[in-house]
Amino acid sequence: MLAEPFNWHPGMWNMLIVAMCLAFLGCLQAQELQGHVSIILLGATGDLAKKYLWQGLFQLYLDEAGRGHSFSFHGAALTAPRQGQELMAKALESLSCPKDMAPSHCAEHKDQFLQLSQYRQLKTAEDYQALNKDIEAQLQHTGLREAGRIFYFSVPPFAYEDIARNINSSCRPGPGAWLRVVLEKPFGHDHFSARQLATELGTFFQEEEMYRVDHYLGKQAVAQILPFRDQNRKALDGLWNRHHVERVEIIMKETVDAEGRTGFYEEYGVIRDVLQNHLTEVLTLVAMELPHNVSSAEAVLRHKLQVFQALRGLQRGSAIVGQYQSYSEQVRRELQKPDSFHSLTPTFAAVLVHIDNLRWEGVPFILMSGKALDERVGYARILFKNQACCVQSEKHWAAAQSQCLPRQLVFHIGHGDLGSPAVLVSRNLFRPSLPSSWKEMEGPPGLRLFGSPLSDYYAYSPVQERDAHSVLLSHIFHGRKDFFITTENLLASWDFWTPLLESLAHKAPRLYPGGAENGRLLDFEFSSGRLFFSQQQPEQLVPGPGPAPMPSDFQVLRAKYRESPLVSAWSEELISKLANDIEATAVRAVRRFGQFHLALSGGSSPVALFQQLATAHYGFPWAHTHLWLVDERCVPLSDPESNFQGLQAHLLQHVRIPYYNIHPMPVHLQQRLCAEEDQGAQIYAREISALVANSSFDLVLLGMGADGHTASLFPQSPTGLDGEQLVVLTTSPSQPHRRMSLSLPLINRAKKVAVLVMGRMKREITTLVSRVGHEPKKWPISGVLPHSGQLVWYMDYDAFLG
Ligand code: BG6
Repeated sequence: MLAEPFNWHPGMWNMLIVAMCLAFLGCLQAQELQGHVSIILLGATGDLAKKYLWQGLFQLYLDEAGRGHSFSFHGAALTAPRQGQELMAKALESLSCPKDMAPSHCAEHKDQFLQLSQYRQLKTAEDYQALNKDIEAQLQHTGLREAGRIFYFSVPPFAYEDIARNINSSCRPGPGAWLRVVLEKPFGHDHFSARQLATELGTFFQEEEMYRVDHYLGKQAVAQILPFRDQNRKALDGLWNRHHVERVEIIMKETVDAEGRTGFYEEYGVIRDVLQNHLTEVLTLVAMELPHNVSSAEAVLRHKLQVFQALRGLQRGSAIVGQYQSYSEQVRRELQKPDSFHSLTPTFAAVLVHIDNLRWEGVPFILMSGKALDERVGYARILFKNQACCVQSEKHWAAAQSQCLPRQLVFHIGHGDLGSPAVLVSRNLFRPSLPSSWKEMEGPPGLRLFGSPLSDYYAYSPVQERDAHSVLLSHIFHGRKDFFITTENLLASWDFWTPLLESLAHKAPRLYPGGAENGRLLDFEFSSGRLFFSQQQPEQLVPGPGPAPMPSDFQVLRAKYRESPLVSAWSEELISKLANDIEATAVRAVRRFGQFHLALSGGSSPVALFQQLATAHYGFPWAHTHLWLVDERCVPLSDPESNFQGLQAHLLQHVRIPYYNIHPMPVHLQQRLCAEEDQGAQIYAREISALVANSSFDLVLLGMGADGHTASLFPQSPTGLDGEQLVVLTTSPSQPHRRMSLSLPLINRAKKVAVLVMGRMKREITTLVSRVGHEPKKWPISGVLPHSGQLVWYMDYDAFLG
């Protein structure tokens, strides 16, 4: 169906051209002409457009029209022209001018803007072709050069594909002009769906054409983080690190609940809605290495990405979740669910994040957000360690300057008792420098913030408050990609959050009444990498969402598997038990022999174990531990596929183990990988014989593959299953094919062998192997039986019970 031509009847057409010419003349007077920009707002009559986008576009027009650009604004939606025009006119009624603009000026600008803004129905491919034709015709009539086109998708994601296809096929500007498409969240639901959506969009648009909005990046206090760090480099350089920062809190509290949008909220919950995007973005700005040039979009984006690479994986214990009491009832009502329905969607979450790099190692970053809380406020607070001792009594402390008072820096995003964006710096830290668009502020007398009176801070607020969307529209117009979420950034963020979301999927959130009545119910604490509510779970306020079994409801099960001891539990408990057993073995070995020789497998199962050893085992005798590899892929040690890399990332960099006690497998010699002639396997065997008494490891940690392989000993392997060789080269059915592995005879010399088996994927092989005899050719794991040592199986319930 063709677009109704009502908005392009000759009268309107002429008016538009006159308006464009007037604006154009104004521009010519102001500056040389920069070209014409068409802005197409899809979803022009929707909520976001009404609340923020039209106002933002008007502001853009006010800011830029005088600098040489000319504009036309096309409000678009599926609604038929007449009705759409009416709705859009309503949305445009409430446009306002900056406070300092004279009313007559304001009326004039508004009038011009309204004349440049037309509604059009965009529904079919023909509608898009007609839009393109109209833009081209306008340009021809006015003789203007086209600078570019902005398509703002203020529509639900299911509509993206269709719109994207139409824009790509019929609305691209000619050569020399840019195309920018602006996308609003949600950008997927997890890593998989985000990747799918990104791939789909990638078939229509280039990366540089896409502007994914996170409106928090447009909030003035958030946008000030990097410039502030840059302008105050001298003062912050020595402070912005683990030696001085006690912790970082990134908080967004809301008083509203999810009523009216439970359809969306039920699918997303607070972690996807706020933590994965807004709070993570703030975290990256605080934590990233500061580029030399903070206005280089490329450098900022690159440094942000590096933060994601250094984030320590989250575990179930890294988060606590809650749900306001009336939420389930609202869902039942709005989504017509039966009375028995109880939602598990969290409306409150706090997550403890660690960044494993030299700057931030050990500093807790706490991300927290929730609906139906006692106040609306957002901030990023950097609390510094207090390493001062004041000798004089407290009454002599210079109120604002004593080094014994709290020292903090707060990027106050908005609301709260301050009621505006602000940057607060404790006076005992340093006097900050801010750009002239920020001014020193005074709050209401007696106001206390973050434990100190406001007078203890240097406090700044923006001279002119601006809405986030309006800030971002300006950045889109200027092509500032660093204020938007790139595909890489988006996927890195989902990569980080998805495992936690999966692990919380069945966790019952703590119910809270909402508002001030929450009292201390949601207060939480953290230690050893875990977060927990400060108070015990009280009686459920309403019947809870079913008695979902919790790991703690189960005892660790002890039994036999293949006639050897079996330890079985939910994965978290299993890992903790295994880590304790390893520590106990290590302590015993060091006490008796002065050394502990531990051979570790790679792959995904031991990652949680490494993390547990790294974060919760302070009594581990690392200084006397030698670490060996059970097997290795024939890739460079720095390759992400390398088992050593996993060990390095999740364990080695967190513990104090002497370098000469670490024994990676020599898979990379003479700049080639696992070449027989280089004799890497023999070299490793000699090293073991030289350092490990009787070549008998104190403990070997193995896994079991779904095909029955263990270490890198695969079914039918011609080497390593028997014979004299201690270390062998083998071939894996999956890539990378070449491997180096300890042989079964060497493994069986160990004093203790622990086999860790986790996950539902292992269910079948676990059953099968429980029934087979000693058949290492078919199932190498069945050949594991230490001659004089002990074999213990560690299986989680998923692997063992299915
Ligand atoms: C949105 C979330 O992205 O941010 C909402 O979807 C939340 O749930 C909102 O209320 C908060 O934004 P602001 O700008 O009000 O802090």
